[in-house]
Amino acid sequence: MKLCMIGTGYVGLVSGVCFADLGNEVICVDNNINKIDLLKKGKIPIYEPGLSELVIKNYKNKRLTFSTNLKKSVKESDIIFICVGTPTKKGGGSADLSQIYNVSKEISSSINKFKIIITKSTVPVTTGDEIEKILSKRNNKKNFSVVSNPEFLREGEAIRDFIYPDRVVIGTNDKRSGRILKNLYSPLISKGASFLQTSRRAAELIKYASNAFLATKITFINEIANLCEKTGINVEDISIGMGLDKRIGSRFLRAGPAYGGSCFPKDTKAIISTADKFKTNLSVIKSVIKSNENRSKILLDRVNQILNKKIRNKKITFLGVTFKANTDDMRDSSSLKMIPYLSKKGAIIKYFDPTGYKNEFSKLKNVICKSSIKEAIQGSDLVIIHTEWNDFKSINFKNLVKSKKFIIYDMRNIYSSTKIKDQGFKYFSVGQ
Ligand code: UGA
Repeated sequence: MKLCMIGTGYVGLVSGVCFADLGNEVICVDNNINKIDLLKKGKIPIYEPGLSELVIKNYKNKRLTFSTNLKKSVKESDIIFICVGTPTKKGGGSADLSQIYNVSKEISSSINKFKIIITKSTVPVTTGDEIEKILSKRNNKKNFSVVSNPEFLREGEAIRDFIYPDRVVIGTNDKRSGRILKNLYSPLISKGASFLQTSRRAAELIKYASNAFLATKITFINEIANLCEKTGINVEDISIGMGLDKRIGSRFLRAGPAYGGSCFPKDTKAIISTADKFKTNLSVIKSVIKSNENRSKILLDRVNQILNKKIRNKKITFLGVTFKANTDDMRDSSSLKMIPYLSKKGAIIKYFDPTGYKNEFSKLKNVICKSSIKEAIQGSDLVIIHTEWNDFKSINFKNLVKSKKFIIYDMRNIYSSTKIKDQGFKYFSVGQ
């Protein structure tokens, strides 16, 4: 079976490379010539641990190829994965499906034998039906099958998540496609991944419902953290206590800044928009979005309180600015709200992120990037641990900066408050 991945973003590139590594022949297609040229040279356009090594290995052994010629690549392949972006539409909450439909039109003129066309991008319920309509205009329905196969990988953990998924979801009523795809995923299923075959619409909704549920779980614990702060309770104890109930589970119960990234904010809005289309009110998810949008304000109020309402001229350091660790992705990172706010209030801000300088802050007054933790925290009044990079997990603050004691606001609850306080620092965390 020859596979074609259309779109070389997180989903397309990671899935394509991993499929190649499992022994398949894979063509990764993108309409961005520069990106394809870079990939052919072994240069990876995204930051994802372990990806570069796998690309180089599989490109060298020729199981992985790159192309800008979509039609030719589709003609040569048996299974086509659509992995292009589905960003939020400008001025609304629904997903912009223009890339999906443009690609579908191109595929439509390249169906020369039976092909399985798969949406791996996150697409709203009924998108598969629309793709089928587009393909049916030029092709006999016997020559193709449109399937939904959502991807559940996390940035920064993408390769591990691909190889060891909790589940593989295949949305199709077509037995032949179901069989072929189960076989494609058999190396992962034999390692323990659950396999679920459902209707195409159900598979599309499973993806959105999963992301919306995880966003809800995080928002829930963030609100419980607010209550803990008022009642002298440690939210970590609550997460452990709740997580021990197998019906709840301990993952995604870490309180912290607002959730961000390219998926949760976009997908929670898009599922609301789908529900509106079908005249259904997803009130829980609506409150989650609202609560998350207010989250940065709550954390900034705490900063204000920690600094006795005197932000002007205070030297504030951010350790980590990306929306999570192991990625250079700044999309919807809460630092994009916090740093501009503090800069406007007259703070002098230094930041250090393991993925370096961020253009997003280039126009802000008194915001500079430092190239080491030590440089970033030297002379600070307040150090904010914003992202839970491993680099920040075992800092000996006392040894690193001997001269001055600053306040630490640990937004990821990395440290034990007693240990830090023993070193002589004032320490604040989330939900404690
Ligand atoms: C998310 C999902 O976890 C993946 O399953 C899904 O495939 C992906 O979206 C997608 O739709 O493509 P991702 O956005 O890469 O993955 O990152 P997560 O690890 O889920 O983190 C999202 C946000 O939640 C981050 O801001 C993170 O800091 C926050 N988070 C996560 C918490 O605040 N607390 C937690 O306990 C977990």
